[in-house]
Amino acid sequence: KKDTYILGIETSCDETAAAIVKNGDEIVSNVVASQIDSHKRFGGVVPEIASRHHVEQMTIVLEEAFEQADMTWDDVDAVAVTEGPGLVGALLVGVNSAKALAFARQKPLIGVHHLAGHIYANRFQTEFEFPLLALIVSGGHTELIVMHAHGNYELIGETRDDAAGEAYDKIARVLELPYPGGPQIDKLAAEGEASMTFPRAWLESDSYDFSFSGLKSSVINTIHNATQRGESISKQSIAASFQSSVVDVLTTKTWKAAQSYQVRQVIVAGGVAANAGLRRALENQFQDSGIPLAIPPLELCTDNAAMIAAAGFVNNNQGKRSGWDLNANPSLPL
Ligand code: KG4
Ligand code: ZN
Repeated sequence: KKDTYILGIETSCDETAAAIVKNGDEIVSNVVASQIDSHKRFGGVVPEIASRHHVEQMTIVLEEAFEQADMTWDDVDAVAVTEGPGLVGALLVGVNSAKALAFARQKPLIGVHHLAGHIYANRFQTEFEFPLLALIVSGGHTELIVMHAHGNYELIGETRDDAAGEAYDKIARVLELPYPGGPQIDKLAAEGEASMTFPRAWLESDSYDFSFSGLKSSVINTIHNATQRGESISKQSIAASFQSSVVDVLTTKTWKAAQSYQVRQVIVAGGVAANAGLRRALENQFQDSGIPLAIPPLELCTDNAAMIAAAGFVNNNQGKRSGWDLNANPSLPL
């Protein structure tokens, strides 16, 4: 049987990315142009700036993806692109580039959900065993999803307010740490003790939903009160205490869901899956459970196009292709 090569394109937020993936589970090339430096001085992603950067970077990352792979358009079987969710102006750059390229080269066009992409970042290291539980933790999402088959997603829990990564980034901002704050807090947490107790929102006992806004407010109040009283605070212990609260809730709910849905595998995805504290806690929790746990390597946790190509491979196999009317959808449901 002939090999299938999918070109993936991702522009949903602040990374312009292109990649070529073989048979849905082998990275041939993977290029990510990060805009972090351009957004840093604003303390967060500025949508208008993100879109402009995508326009500037798109052809560069594409050429680099072909160069790294030592391939030409003749080798590509289909073009997969993130159609949503994300920043609409940012998504439009990727979607329209993919449409133009697929049309010109007469290749099938495949729209991909960004979170399906994050989930399929795990396909480079493991086969999927169903039912499978996916914990998605990123800057925009905190979700527990049960998959019964490839391309099938049952949402069992989600955040009712802030995403986990959003809470990380906001607290980092109050601590005057550079953007994005997640990795900074992760680093500080490793140097401190979780000596303060911050709230853990368990919600209803049977709920797999999350809530991080109460925790966020509590941490920010603690920092502000200390500053007002002229007391010095240890950024390390704030970071460690905040992180322990986030990690505790994420790990406990993932464990409970894995038990009650009797899943055969647990996978973690999204930028916050890069968090050392979370990785360690999940690994400990599932170590002797008989339920295999997969977490992508750091560079595949955050946004990239290899994961979009891997998810696009599944859509392609299932005949889920897009028309030339494919549009960016900032709130696309999974
Ligand atoms: O998946 P991603 O790259 O973009 C979205 O789709 O949102 O996730 C970015 C988020 C940011 O909030 C960033 O602060 C967070 O992931 N993040 C981390 C770590 N690395 C990235 N959060 C905690 N610890 C980390 N090591
Ligand atoms: Zn993402």
